[in-house]
Amino acid sequence: MRAADSGHVTHVGSERSRAVFNPNTGQDFGLTGLDQSMFAPVLLLLVTLCAQGANGEETLETKRHGHVSVVIVGGTGDLARKYLWQGFFQLYANQVSSGHSFSFYGGGLTPADKANLVFFEILKAVSCAKDVSEQRCAVLKEQFLRLAQYRQLKTDEDYKDLTKHIEQKLQQEGLEEAGRLFYLSVPAFAYADIAEKVNSSCRPSSGVWLRVVLEKPFGHDLVSAQVLASQLGTSLKDDEMYRIDHYLGKQVVSKILPFRKENEKFLDPIWNKHHIERVEIVLKETLDAKGRIPFYDQYGVIRDVLQNHLTEVMTLLTMRPPKNLSSSEEALQNKLKIFAHLLPLGKHQAVVGQYQNYNKEVRNELNKTQDYLSSTPTFAAVLAHVDTAQYDGVPILLLSGKMLDERVGYARVLFKNEVFCVQSHHSVHCKPRQIIFHFGHGSLQYPAILVSKNLFKPVQTDPQWKEVTEHKDVSVLDLPLSDYYVHAPKVQKEAYAELIAHIFAGRKNNFISSENLLASWVLWTPLLDSLAVTFPRIYPGGAVNGNLLDLRVKGKGLSYSNEGVVIIKNDNRGGLSADGYQVMQGKYRSADMVSAWAEELVEKLAADIQDAAEAAVREGGVFHLAVSGGSTPVALFHKLVLDHFSFPWRDTHVWMVDERCVPLTESDSNFRSVHDHLLHHVKIPYYNIHPMPVQLHQRLCVEEDGGADLYEKELRSLVNGSSFHFVLLGVGYDGHTASLFPGGQAASQGESLVVLTESPAKPHQRMSLSLSAINRAHKVAILVMGKGKHALVTQMSRVKDDPNKYPVTAVRPKNGSLVWYLDYEALLG
Ligand code: BG6
Repeated sequence: MRAADSGHVTHVGSERSRAVFNPNTGQDFGLTGLDQSMFAPVLLLLVTLCAQGANGEETLETKRHGHVSVVIVGGTGDLARKYLWQGFFQLYANQVSSGHSFSFYGGGLTPADKANLVFFEILKAVSCAKDVSEQRCAVLKEQFLRLAQYRQLKTDEDYKDLTKHIEQKLQQEGLEEAGRLFYLSVPAFAYADIAEKVNSSCRPSSGVWLRVVLEKPFGHDLVSAQVLASQLGTSLKDDEMYRIDHYLGKQVVSKILPFRKENEKFLDPIWNKHHIERVEIVLKETLDAKGRIPFYDQYGVIRDVLQNHLTEVMTLLTMRPPKNLSSSEEALQNKLKIFAHLLPLGKHQAVVGQYQNYNKEVRNELNKTQDYLSSTPTFAAVLAHVDTAQYDGVPILLLSGKMLDERVGYARVLFKNEVFCVQSHHSVHCKPRQIIFHFGHGSLQYPAILVSKNLFKPVQTDPQWKEVTEHKDVSVLDLPLSDYYVHAPKVQKEAYAELIAHIFAGRKNNFISSENLLASWVLWTPLLDSLAVTFPRIYPGGAVNGNLLDLRVKGKGLSYSNEGVVIIKNDNRGGLSADGYQVMQGKYRSADMVSAWAEELVEKLAADIQDAAEAAVREGGVFHLAVSGGSTPVALFHKLVLDHFSFPWRDTHVWMVDERCVPLTESDSNFRSVHDHLLHHVKIPYYNIHPMPVQLHQRLCVEEDGGADLYEKELRSLVNGSSFHFVLLGVGYDGHTASLFPGGQAASQGESLVVLTESPAKPHQRMSLSLSAINRAHKVAILVMGKGKHALVTQMSRVKDDPNKYPVTAVRPKNGSLVWYLDYEALLG
């Protein structure tokens, strides 16, 4: 053993070619035998000569020297073999002189005598950085092998034995313990169980840290992610969990915020909607999904890459850089603000594709019959928008796919060029103005940040980075390399090795917190749901894809630019053919009825409201719309926001059908919901917005305060004949509509237009339009959606009009029209 190692930084060779890693397959549980005793682990006590870590960035926790036990559960699997052991070897090499001592355990379901051979073959393959001499490398590797052992980790007993083993070693060697690091490189379904075993059998004594590292996927939608988070939460504290997104370990990705901060004075004036034309975040791959179909087919490209890697990059590009770059809390809060302002994603913001051979691979790997068709996308492009004063209207394109023409990953911020070149199109000021965060591969082949020379000369203060001045004869995104200022890391480092170093140091800002994770699923789940019945466009794969996957951005929507392709409609909606997507018209309770699948129904209703608005504005210059709160109209509001750019919002007045007696800022206020999902996103004059005055004199819905009268007066004075042009209602499980509840004498409210009412559910006090106000409207729409309302819809179809029992049955506009909008689930169950 060499005790006096110099503590230099080692790096993984950049020349090593990367393969697609698979966190979900390749856990090796069937290995052949070898005598474990060949490599009986010997703990080495490493003498502290130098108290500082490799890069001088140690946190308080790592300064506390002592013994660290590293356990990779799934230690002979694919990910461990390709990246993790190499990363831990590098950690070892960097920390060998820091005063820490280590032991490494590879865990798996296979008994040790069968797994040892493979385990040590993996370990023997680790490599040293270029600047380490052969001799020293041999010593380091030998030490590393001696410190490592394979253990079967299957039962509670196995985990208890592991702890016993760690404790005995500590005692025998007289070592003080610093921490225990468990890296769960296993399929996600095993997380909760292993976390529970670690908690009950391997939790160290107080004062010694426990860190548990998890790999994506963290759920496949919001609900499953919440379930997983709460299961893990029963065994582990949040600060003990390190959720890895390996993109955050990529050198260029982790440089985005520091770059933005260092170059603040150049970027501040142009990092906004007035100057940015669009942002593209792209990961193109040439490989297919072969070998990992059991995982991939359940997830697809959106869950595999867009929901995590590309979303993280998007937030880094758009969030406000934290004042203190190393404050993970400030960074998280700034990131969450971006999530809160992302416009919802629907199927009009996305296109999906699938390479031609994919289904063959699925049938082979999943043993499916010839007629089996998977609709899992292997290519997706999604158009996102951050709805803030800074970025409003800037298209952000996220794109990834397998079997494309090249392997490359980058984020490009393309700026508008205000210069119109009349003749000299080749001069520098006529060329594209862009910043490229080049993650790797592509024509450049190395990670770099490129700033086109007609933008500014970037500041670069990081000693680990250099300016590249010798330019290869290549072009990067339409510009020859010589047209850019190019900065690149001096030494290329592997993402996993970087993240392992952060975990060891207890630095949390390059990991995914629960809040971050759930915010991302909130964004992606509705899109994934709406795409569940979309069959992807088939593409042949490789260069022959030609222009098949080219995209068109139109308003806030995204489509393929080339429509001349037959798209197979996969009917997994339970028997309805492609015709089932049509909108159906009919009668319900002797009034008009429109029915369709939810998405088409909402499209139809949005179009009908726009028609009504245009007609009213044409006739009288103004459109009065009364809307209800609750969750049902949210999809409609999103539709209006995303696809109805010509809606005459300037001439529209928005009124409330009813309100809960809570402050308007509360999340259960109807106005708050209408505000957040609609008003906040459209250009409507403030004085056209009419929330109900439920809070007067700092109290809620007190009769003497006369809130209802005030609203009625406002209505009578602004709305011609007190007749709204359009009233949008919902219906509750008990047959209530607006806030007119059964038994509430809805019919006996006389000519009052606005009334205070009582709800059986909390909050009990409400303000509502009366039946008289509703029935004066020109058009009334009742929107009912979801399976949960089917029983109600059936019941309502049979009952007679009875305002006291079922207030909704008394909605009968005197001189106007009533249309029921029922989605198929509500109508047919
Ligand atoms: C992984 C995905 O997270 O990222 C893979 O599961 C994808 O499908 C890979 O190929 C891309 O990572 P990198 O580092 O090769 O760009």
